[in-house]
Amino acid sequence: MLPKPLLKTLTEAGVGSRRRLADAIRNGRVRVNGVVAEDFRQPIDLRKDSILVNGVLVNLKPQKSVYLLLNKPKGCLSTTSDDRGRMTVLDILPSKYRSLRLYPVGRLDKNTTGLLLLTNDGELTYRLTHPKFECEKEYLFYINSILKANEKMRLQQGVKLEDGKTSPARVRRIASSPPFNYSITIREGKKRQVRLMLAHLGHRVLALKRIREGDLILGDLQERKVRELNPKEVRILMNSCSDG
Ligand code: URA
Repeated sequence: MLPKPLLKTLTEAGVGSRRRLADAIRNGRVRVNGVVAEDFRQPIDLRKDSILVNGVLVNLKPQKSVYLLLNKPKGCLSTTSDDRGRMTVLDILPSKYRSLRLYPVGRLDKNTTGLLLLTNDGELTYRLTHPKFECEKEYLFYINSILKANEKMRLQQGVKLEDGKTSPARVRRIASSPPFNYSITIREGKKRQVRLMLAHLGHRVLALKRIREGDLILGDLQERKVRELNPKEVRILMNSCSDG
């Protein structure tokens, strides 16, 4: 068996997203055979080497990748644990999935509903969340007013938020999914981005739902329900977020 680079090994072991694991290596929180790792590409022999991340031994036996599509309900946190005991996505997963070390791909605010992927595949997570892949996310939102033409244009061209200008977005008026009255498609994942973009123009978002990520759509999956993606859907998702 050929040795594999450290970061790839960890990502495939499903112990977190590639970005988090890269941070762990950078911050000296990964040890290989007891020695702090410094090189993402350090070769790892899966049969002999042992790796600790944050002091916890990583199981290097290949595990099956699992991809779940959840329609997140309002009030649920898109984390796997909460020290204040609030409802998390793990609480609403069927029990057979709870021990698989799945984690959410990106995040939705507590009061945002809709499409949330959970997986143990760090490579897919990396593609969907790293800004360089510019993966599209489409949201429906409800505001208690109508956007003026110049406001729509400002959203589309980008508005200045605290952490910089947002990149171009697409905004459409819709009538097919009440109470939502607009759809917005963005290619970034800044924290609370849609709410902040609208707040910047003086509009309060009263309901927000994600309905698409890359080419994967939420479809008619009911709120709180979860289903596994099939291999074709995983391939489509992976290909819809490429840096080419
Ligand atoms: N934008 C937001 O404001 N909230 C979300 O949950 C997702 C995108």
